Amino acid sequence: MKRTSSFDVLTDRRNTGSCKWEAYAHLTKDGDCIPLTVADMELPIAEPIKAALVAAAQHGICGYTQVDELYLNALTGFMKRHHGLEITEKNLICTSGIVPAFGIVLRALTQKGDGIIVQPPVYTPFFDAIRANERVILENPLLFDGKEYRMDYAGLEELCKSGAKLLMLCSPHNPVGRVWTREELQMTGDICKKYGVVILCDEIHNDMALESTHTALATLPGMKDIVITCTAMSKTFNLAGLMLSNIFIFNEDMYKKVDRQLGLDGSHCIPYFGRAASIAAFSECDGWIEELKDYLRGNFELCYNYIAENMPNLECIRAEGTYLLWVNCKKLGLSDKELLKRFEEEKVPVNPGTMFGTGGSGFVRINVAMPRESLMIALEKIKKAVNVK
Ligand SMILES: Cc1ncc(COP(=O)(O)O)c(C=O)c1O
Repeated sequence: MKRTSSFDVLTDRRNTGSCKWEAYAHLTKDGDCIPLTVADMELPIAEPIKAALVAAAQHGICGYTQVDELYLNALTGFMKRHHGLEITEKNLICTSGIVPAFGIVLRALTQKGDGIIVQPPVYTPFFDAIRANERVILENPLLFDGKEYRMDYAGLEELCKSGAKLLMLCSPHNPVGRVWTREELQMTGDICKKYGVVILCDEIHNDMALESTHTALATLPGMKDIVITCTAMSKTFNLAGLMLSNIFIFNEDMYKKVDRQLGLDGSHCIPYFGRAASIAAFSECDGWIEELKDYLRGNFELCYNYIAENMPNLECIRAEGTYLLWVNCKKLGLSDKELLKRFEEEKVPVNPGTMFGTGGSGFVRINVAMPRESLMIALEKIKKAVNVK
């Protein structure tokens, strides 16, 4: 008998202010639209987290909140157990998200006009943060052989040599789904270290390594001094609306500068509900993560098989991690605009590859984190969208 999973539950998120669903309010009225965009999950949160949030509400006072021993113990225990990263309060900076941390770190450690390296196709806010803070985008596009993505070490070294100040690294990589190996990360880190380039390492998808193990860059030899590690409970536990992330900085001088910038930006507390949820997430949900990853693997397999059988013109890039599927649609021969229109017309809006910069044209990104029943319906809609003559 088919075992049902707690992740099979469908939740109607319309009228909850969801960024993903509000963006398509014009399409979702009839209940037959499935947005496959923004990277949060259509899957229910873990029971211990729900209980912690209810208890926090029932407590009745939601005053100013700070990092305390309970929070710190839960976080440090989690990072050590799952990622081998030993941290203390002296390494921790809390922000209201990793995206806000991009700007804080750029302002703290670089100057206007400085060169910042990105490796597209990559998470759009990397570009936004560099532009908004008047730094200069230096692109080192990923290499793609038609099947797999790699980093271009020669290109990286050139840019480092030319005076770049910081590399924004996405590890695991959104949108291409790579979980960089220890060797790849060590090579990247060694190049940056040689030229004094700081690495802002966005590890928000760190618990979502599905086929191999994620390596925290800061655990590799020689890396602690140049790496800023960005993590959050938001992706893993589907808590993006609680606005809390944990940034780890081991170099004392860099820590002081970022901490000072945080003060200049007026940020000094953590969210009351974010703290409560994090303590439960970090201390009571290890088993839930494993169940989630199993479910996501099943969703990816469904996509790979269904697309291979029914949509010969689409090629899935196998995701080693994240819950985002990167699909090559070039064989359809459509413009990016037409491609997007087709998906929207069938009421399965997706993220266009172009939003991730160089190398994104002809691709789409599909969020697969949803109950399998919804995913099946979405795949049928995608089939209609791409098989139109
Ligand atoms: C690579 C990456 N970094 C950061 C974020 C968002 O971070 P936050 O919600 O903490 O600002 C996302 C969300 O999709 C992401 O994929």
